[in-house]
Amino acid sequence: MQPYDIIIVGAGGGGMYAAMEALQTNPKLKIAVVSKVYPTRSHTSAAQGGVNAALANRHKDDTIDLHIFDTIKGSDYLADQDAATILCEMAPYVVRELENLGAPFSRLEDGTIAQRPFGGAQKYRCCYCADRTGHTILTTLFEQCLRQGVHFLSEYYLLSLEHDGQKAQGVVVMNMQTGKIEALPARSVILATGGYAKMYWQKSSNAAGSTGDGIAAALRAGLAVEDMEFVQFHPTGLRKSGLLISEGARGEGGYLVNNKGERFMKTYAPEKMELGPRDLVSRSIEIEINEGRGFDSDAGQYMHLDLRHLGADLILERLPQIRMLAIDFEGVDPIKEPIPIRPTAHYSMGGIDANNDGATAIQGIYAVGECSCISVHGANRLGGNSLLDILVFGKLAGRHAAQLAPSLNPGAISTSAVEKSLKEIEGYSHHDRTERYGELRDELGKTLGANAGIYRTKKKLEKGVEDIMAIKERFKNVRVNDSSAVFNTNLFQVLELKNMIALAETVARGALAREESRGSHSREDFPVRDDEKWHKHSIFHMNEKGDITLSTKPVTMGKYPLQARTY
Ligand code: FUM
Repeated sequence: MQPYDIIIVGAGGGGMYAAMEALQTNPKLKIAVVSKVYPTRSHTSAAQGGVNAALANRHKDDTIDLHIFDTIKGSDYLADQDAATILCEMAPYVVRELENLGAPFSRLEDGTIAQRPFGGAQKYRCCYCADRTGHTILTTLFEQCLRQGVHFLSEYYLLSLEHDGQKAQGVVVMNMQTGKIEALPARSVILATGGYAKMYWQKSSNAAGSTGDGIAAALRAGLAVEDMEFVQFHPTGLRKSGLLISEGARGEGGYLVNNKGERFMKTYAPEKMELGPRDLVSRSIEIEINEGRGFDSDAGQYMHLDLRHLGADLILERLPQIRMLAIDFEGVDPIKEPIPIRPTAHYSMGGIDANNDGATAIQGIYAVGECSCISVHGANRLGGNSLLDILVFGKLAGRHAAQLAPSLNPGAISTSAVEKSLKEIEGYSHHDRTERYGELRDELGKTLGANAGIYRTKKKLEKGVEDIMAIKERFKNVRVNDSSAVFNTNLFQVLELKNMIALAETVARGALAREESRGSHSREDFPVRDDEKWHKHSIFHMNEKGDITLSTKPVTMGKYPLQARTY
């Protein structure tokens, strides 16, 4: 096959923005977006509340500097300050570009883009399309990519990332519709495969496909992954399903209420109240529940998110999707009743170690969006900075890859890479194998929830590592029962589980090693941030035997010195 110039793996907002920018940079390039789902089903569609940009439409005194500071403070000072600066400086540009591409943002009376308050931000900065911002951005980008002639390979599963130790060679994939394994050589590969928070199976806002496939492929290909222990729990997931109820609901004025009828956030964030950063609000809910001020149900303890005082008109205009989610999944209409909520695993701050162009240590391999760690979010991401991250760094990586690609050798993939995948996949059907995928996946989710959740201790994390290692061992004996070549979902679930197990090990080992509390990582046995020992990034590698090793690298500082973080 004629090699592609650039293969982008992942058809969410980051992947599609990268594709568009690459084609605009060099229209002669042959570019393909490869995705395991049809593009409009990518997880970007689940982002609800908005995208941050200091446009100053609502608060005239908002500035890019305030956005940078909020991002760095929100990160508990672990963000690389040069990367956070690029993120916030480019924000007005990418939001306006999206507007020009046709994204139907909600509007203020004067016709400018509407902005709502979001957690951890000093100003009203979050631009939104009702509560369907991600979906709207995704469909706008998909339309534009089709218009510009981006080639889509939908329903192709990433099996391996290939390079020669210095330069990209391409990817090995399975056509999910036929079961055929194919080598896709390329001069350059951009990974935009999303995060890994679905590994917290029973308590996650993520789509079933957010299984960290690109990060695990990079880890197996010898690349470094960074800050994996930082997993964000969103305060307001639906009680039973964990589905997201947007921070936009609190941005519009929703209250969090305990079983005493108190707005309990006054104890934890007296100034910001419900609009404290996510790590703080999620911890506060956990404390309230642990101290007996939660509501009881068969689905576990929960809190109330009360929107009734906002009135039907506002809810129907600005929060229509979350209203339908509450009705469909909890049988509760937020116009009339409070929504039962609890924290839910939502976002992975960790990912593939990449620089400010999204470039990794291997020339021609890039990572953007939630699968990357560039690192703009540090130990805790601010709501509204995720859509921004995929746009800004999608664009920068697409441009960089397009400029570099003509100077790189066309990729070539050895037949042994394809044979290796084939052998692995055939092995899963061996009749001697007895372990069941569903059991292992459930056990992995349970141990992560119990031992590497919001509050962590040495004892819990040691148990987590022990459980994950046992699951890793049992996985060697897992069986794919479905022998069909056509859309073998059983096989893809097993491959996704392999990825989640590898990444779960990095999460638990990283969390065990980090003896401090910072952002989303709260150690009950080390409750204080320890800048002297731990103001540094964690770096993980996988060796040829599949063992994980851990090292560190410094945080890039700028004009914002370390400070205590209060709200
Ligand atoms: O709450 C939300 O709408 C989620 C936004 C985000 O994760 O940035």
